[in-house]
Amino acid sequence: MSVPTGLEVTVFDEVFRNRPHERFDALREQDPVHTDRVLGRVLLTRAADVATTLKDRSLSVSPDNAAADTIVQRLMTLQEREGPRSMLSLDDPDHARLRRLVTHAFNARAIEAVKPRVRDVADELLDAVAGQERFDLIESFASPLPIIVIAAMLGVDAADVGDFRRWSKGLANVFSPIRTPELLAQLKDNADQLSAYFERAIAERRAAPRDDLISAMVAVEESGDRLTTQEIVTMCNLLLLAGNLTTTDLIGNCVLALLRHPDQLARVKADPARLADAIEETLRLDPPVVQSLRIPLEDREIGGCPVRKGEAVTTYLMAAGQDPALHADPLRFDIDRADKTHFAFGGGVHFCLGAPLARAEAEIGLARLFARFPDLALTGDPIERNISAAFNGVKELWVRP
Ligand code: HEM
Repeated sequence: MSVPTGLEVTVFDEVFRNRPHERFDALREQDPVHTDRVLGRVLLTRAADVATTLKDRSLSVSPDNAAADTIVQRLMTLQEREGPRSMLSLDDPDHARLRRLVTHAFNARAIEAVKPRVRDVADELLDAVAGQERFDLIESFASPLPIIVIAAMLGVDAADVGDFRRWSKGLANVFSPIRTPELLAQLKDNADQLSAYFERAIAERRAAPRDDLISAMVAVEESGDRLTTQEIVTMCNLLLLAGNLTTTDLIGNCVLALLRHPDQLARVKADPARLADAIEETLRLDPPVVQSLRIPLEDREIGGCPVRKGEAVTTYLMAAGQDPALHADPLRFDIDRADKTHFAFGGGVHFCLGAPLARAEAEIGLARLFARFPDLALTGDPIERNISAAFNGVKELWVRP
């Protein structure tokens, strides 16, 4: 079998879209540090290479450091080239400065404080579908839950939550691999409205602080350093972009796995503490984010292979979690697996800031869902994956309560 390359390792490929492990296994076995000159990137599929690459502080995440013939430079729009960068695509010291100024808002204590709100939002969403014969779990539950929770954390007024939900969902189209002029225009319009909203909210908090995350970002000060309005707007956008669809997909993928494995679901229902195991196993086997990016600043070796300066090194988080060198029978969903090591939240200095929030939302959300609808079952409608360059989730998940 030939080494999969180019479009064969993208969502445009039917096999990759529906059975990505087939492509990952072929790459891992035949060319685990694969240089793909069609799209311009290097694909890593071994857990060991992904782990060391994510942690390597000498690697960059800034698209400015990518060579002209890489996928990163080829796909960048003018807006992305010239617009402000979030910390996800900045290197230290800029990255460390921004991360330090918001990190306390996502620590264990902050997440403990938000848990009752998550519970209330989950219950309200479940109330809304009670009595229906069937519902789409993504549209009615997994999608609105993280958006409404982050809206509450940021301090979005109740009257604005409808608009905020629409703009937050619109943002996700930035990951569409099909970038038509219409889509780009729609994306810009959506981004402009969201930014204008955040600018108004920041001005209001500067005049009269409240007890919310936008006020905290306005007030934060360390050694005389503060966040500018533009930096706060960019940070708010990043939180929505990095946190919403990812958490939706985690909830969707985990519910799907459990409904397909009734014996394991029965154990989770008998002991909801086991939900944490089901969530970690989902993050390992069917993670919401498929890949992350690192860029070498000089010619070097990765996994024993030469990789040139400016290369777009794609760390396949999904392939790494499914590596047979790390996990026996890796494609089996098994909440009893003792070692559930995964890379779903990336690694090193860019390790996901929102991981504790995402885990809390998934755990509470699923606990409330199965408590409310103990007989929840799939309707048998076909399950289709989203076509997205970065995210891995299902379009719809029809269930019977
Ligand atoms: C299951 C849900 C989530 C998954 C799978 C996920 C995954 C990731 C991944 C893979 C990265 C890049 C890490 C790297 O390249 O090493 C990342 C970064 C990030 N995530 Fe998440 N994420 C999730 C939820 C959230 C939530 C809920 C938030 C906040 C509301 C969030 C905020 C961020 C931020 C701010 C970064 C950038 C961190 C940095 O550059 O230092 N994420 N996430």
